[in-house]
Amino acid sequence: MGRWSAEYHAGARSKRFTAPSFVPYPENMNPSKRLQDKVCLVTGATRGIGLAITRMLVAEGASVAICGRSEPSVSQAILTFRDESPSKVKGKVADVSDCDQVQELFAFVIREFGGLDVLVNNAGIGSFASVSDTTPEQWAATLATNLTGTFYCSREALHRFRKPMDGNPGGGHIVNISSLAGKNAFAGGGAYNASKFGVNGFSEALMLDARYNNVRVSTIAPGSVATEFAGGRGENGRDWKVWPEDVAEIVRMVLCMPSRSMVSYVEVRPSRPKRKA
Ligand SMILES: NC(=O)c1ccc[n+]([C@@H]2O[C@H](COP(=O)([O-])OP(=O)(O)OC[C@H]3O[C@@H](n4cnc5c(N)ncnc54)[C@H](OP(=O)(O)O)[C@@H]3O)[C@@H](O)[C@H]2O)c1
Repeated sequence: MGRWSAEYHAGARSKRFTAPSFVPYPENMNPSKRLQDKVCLVTGATRGIGLAITRMLVAEGASVAICGRSEPSVSQAILTFRDESPSKVKGKVADVSDCDQVQELFAFVIREFGGLDVLVNNAGIGSFASVSDTTPEQWAATLATNLTGTFYCSREALHRFRKPMDGNPGGGHIVNISSLAGKNAFAGGGAYNASKFGVNGFSEALMLDARYNNVRVSTIAPGSVATEFAGGRGENGRDWKVWPEDVAEIVRMVLCMPSRSMVSYVEVRPSRPKRKA
């Protein structure tokens, strides 16, 4: 018998102990319903992890806005939802490293869906070279997309999340897709490591700031995921890498936690990685 249970039974016998009055599940008892009708924005969702997260959110009953940098890639991604949920997914071309485009993206979300509950900062790029071979342009683009883009979008979300009203606490949830490279540096990772170490530090500060306003912040740090990231081929490595759908599943679990709890940082790595030669 656990301690609480033992005390309860002893107390009940002596009539001195009253059970705690908290309600264990004040919100929807069914975690699978917690994303129903939520409005979500996933950045960089034209393929890979972002597209898998979008699929998961749609399957959970959410409405989702997505973005990418080019019209063909955004239209192509939206087309994949035309049979199941055409009105549930809307897309806009937006480069997260451009502050004006980010503001237009959030205005689009509010216009199309009437509010915002969840932001997934997923858009990211990687260029890998020794520091001496990294060009200033590669450095600037990597930091601007991965780190500054996360700041621009998070800041905008904080201004756009719902305000408390009529007993509804308001607020929202920001999920930042970081990387194990945000904690473990490697040769050739100068720009990417710097951007993702930055994302981790930023996310933690954001989490500590925003929780008092009912905003939860979760950072997810995947290892190798089978996508086209940095010129990779998605199907390569599906026999040992994490799949984008696995990262989406973690995002689902994190978002579906009871609102009193916040999963602030999760690492997801291949369970059987290739042995290093
Ligand atoms: N794959 C991995 O092994 C791995 C591991 C750890 C972490 N991650 C992280 O996971 C996230 C997603 O990566 P992924 O593997 O899914 O890569 P991916 O297949 O290359 O997809 C990247 C997505 O980001 C979009 N994007 C890139 N730059 C953008 C910008 N400036 N503004 C808006 N959208 C932009 C791309 O769309 P367009 O090209 O259409 O613009 C695309 O939809 C990244 O943050 C990455 O760092 C990946």
